[in-house]
Amino acid sequence: MVLRIYDWLDRRFDLRPAMEKILIHPVPSWVNWLYCFGGITFFLFVLQVITGIFLMLYYVPSPDHAYASVSFISHDIQFGYLVRGMHHWTASLIVVMVVVHMLRVFWHGAYKNPRELNWVAGVFLFLLMMGFGFTGYLLPWDQKAYWATSVGTNIAGSAPIIGSFILKVIRGGTDLGAVTLVRFFTIHVMVLPAITVVFLVAHFLMIRRQGISRPF
Ligand code: HEM
Repeated sequence: MVLRIYDWLDRRFDLRPAMEKILIHPVPSWVNWLYCFGGITFFLFVLQVITGIFLMLYYVPSPDHAYASVSFISHDIQFGYLVRGMHHWTASLIVVMVVVHMLRVFWHGAYKNPRELNWVAGVFLFLLMMGFGFTGYLLPWDQKAYWATSVGTNIAGSAPIIGSFILKVIRGGTDLGAVTLVRFFTIHVMVLPAITVVFLVAHFLMIRRQGISRPF
């Protein structure tokens, strides 16, 4: 059935050459399970996007409704607790996997020439994952979220010279309020995903171009 649909589409769009170029690629004999962590991280990222879209169907980014909408997701919507739980735990797991992936790359010396730029792209991906965690933490708008973000933004605000400017930009004013919540939500669901996709494409293109490294 799937093959018949594929053939039907192929006759119209000539998909085969592109699919063969993307999918048919020999895996070198030295590649073992240690090379799985980048792929696992990518899988978790896709999972975050899917569960995030489901959460967005009900979440309301305003101080009056955010907490209630999250509570509604957890207690009143069928499988809502599951989707929210997956999004919550995967957010932590993805950080663990990124770090394990990074350690594997470091241990194998895969950051060296000609892959140094891919290491730099990876550092940006790591910072982006941290950004997702930081901005997502505020969204339930409970006491823990509010005060953790208050402390986090204060730390950013304590930077010399530009600190107060940074604080105003991320909070959208001097205090934490409705504008902060909308700002964090927009960054969490639009800005960071868009930048992440750009870096992921660059990361994968470079892996294809340079091939997977040989250990040591
Ligand atoms: C969202 C985060 C990330 C995803 C989805 C991701 C994905 C991947 C995948 C699928 C591979 C090929 C298989 C493997 O080596 O595991 C890879 C390779 C690589 N990654 Fe990442 N990565 C991420 C973050 C990072 C970070 C944080 C670094 C380092 C700072 C990094 C540096 C590299 C390098 C240098 C390679 C080439 C490794 C080699 O040729 O042996 N990546 N990445």
